[in-house]
Amino acid sequence: MSELALFGGSKTKRKPFPDWPQYDDGERNALREVLESRVWWRTPGTRTLEFEQAFAKYHGARHGLAVTNGTAALEVTMEALGIGPGDEVIVPNFTFVATASAVLFANALPVLVDVDRKTYCLDPDLAEAAITAKTKAIVAVHMGGHPADLDRLQELARKRGIALVEDSAHAHGSEWRGKKIGTFGKAATFSFQASKLMTAGEGGIIISNDDEFERQARSVHDCGRMPGKWFYSHFIYGSNYRLSEWQGAVLNVQLGRLEPQTLHRHQNGRLLDKLLREIPGITPQECDPRCTRNGQYAYIFHVNAKEFGGIPTENFIAALNAEGIPTQASYPPLHELDFFRSGEYRKCLSGAQATARHAFLEQTFPHTQRAAWEAVWIPQFALLGDEEDMHEIAAAIGKIQQNASTIAANASRVSAESIAR
Ligand SMILES: Cc1ncc(COP(=O)(O)O)c(C=O)c1O
Repeated sequence: MSELALFGGSKTKRKPFPDWPQYDDGERNALREVLESRVWWRTPGTRTLEFEQAFAKYHGARHGLAVTNGTAALEVTMEALGIGPGDEVIVPNFTFVATASAVLFANALPVLVDVDRKTYCLDPDLAEAAITAKTKAIVAVHMGGHPADLDRLQELARKRGIALVEDSAHAHGSEWRGKKIGTFGKAATFSFQASKLMTAGEGGIIISNDDEFERQARSVHDCGRMPGKWFYSHFIYGSNYRLSEWQGAVLNVQLGRLEPQTLHRHQNGRLLDKLLREIPGITPQECDPRCTRNGQYAYIFHVNAKEFGGIPTENFIAALNAEGIPTQASYPPLHELDFFRSGEYRKCLSGAQATARHAFLEQTFPHTQRAAWEAVWIPQFALLGDEEDMHEIAAAIGKIQQNASTIAANASRVSAESIAR
């Protein structure tokens, strides 16, 4: 039995994973062209406009609206949907805070709902049960790149006359039944922050097939202006969420890599499914047969501590990192954030809603808890590696299992080392 790298043994991972972000002369030339054109601002420019049209087309949408980041994309969407005080929006409890904070930014209440145990995406039955007369929208998150159940959620939104928004910050290029995600509801939002599947450091986009929604959103993102009207006329509430030409130029080039990279990550994800399912105690995020392509922002799997000598997930992660396999943190349940626990979020609300009892704060959310504290995330760039890299990931996990009792016996030492790391 080989010794764990955590305790001085040699690392399982020999060659490094691909670097991220990726760039070449494409980005270099695009940036130089923006520089030398002296058109750095999107308003008179063409690069960001070209990018938003190309990104929308790639996802089969009529409209694309580039914005400063994925959080802004959600905020602009809420505003353009007319969501405001007294309204409720259904949001999964297992997601990045922005999915819920964008609802509060609109002075509406995010109603937190548990996720599906196997896919970690919004549970459609629980979403349906959470609908009230005040519900205006459902925001589904395509967790780790795996689409939420778009059959059920689309039908639910249609039947109840509410908007479906796809928070696709993790899911550029993902597919549901052979169709790109992004046009199953009223709008979809994406992020181009540094860790995402394509990036300009920061950035975001909203795509939609709804002309009226797009008109509103475009105005909201540009200080309430209307296209074709005098520059200093402002028609509705809006702010400045415009993306720069630098980012538009970089994203145009990044988009050119999305298709082959998505295919590559999806294939490696399915190989990992096969390899990891053979390790007792490891359950990969389920790839629903209707998910014909997973953009795979992360490869997520559950670790059953009982099969690993009872070690806490943080010790498993410390051992995996020491073997040379990178991980990224899972999200804590939103309802446990200080922001919700302290009641601070109520400052965004008004009237009866600000002081009402919010039942979701008293719920237990078993599947969100399991995903938050017992799941391990391998970042997307690792899935750009080759088959040998995937075998090394599986070998590292197998090695940890063989040595789990040694980790358990040294648990305090492992915790101290993982804190220092
Ligand atoms: C699910 C989800 N939604 C929204 C966002 C917000 O995107 P950004 O960081 O670009 O503001 C993120 C970012 O990590 C995310 O993971």
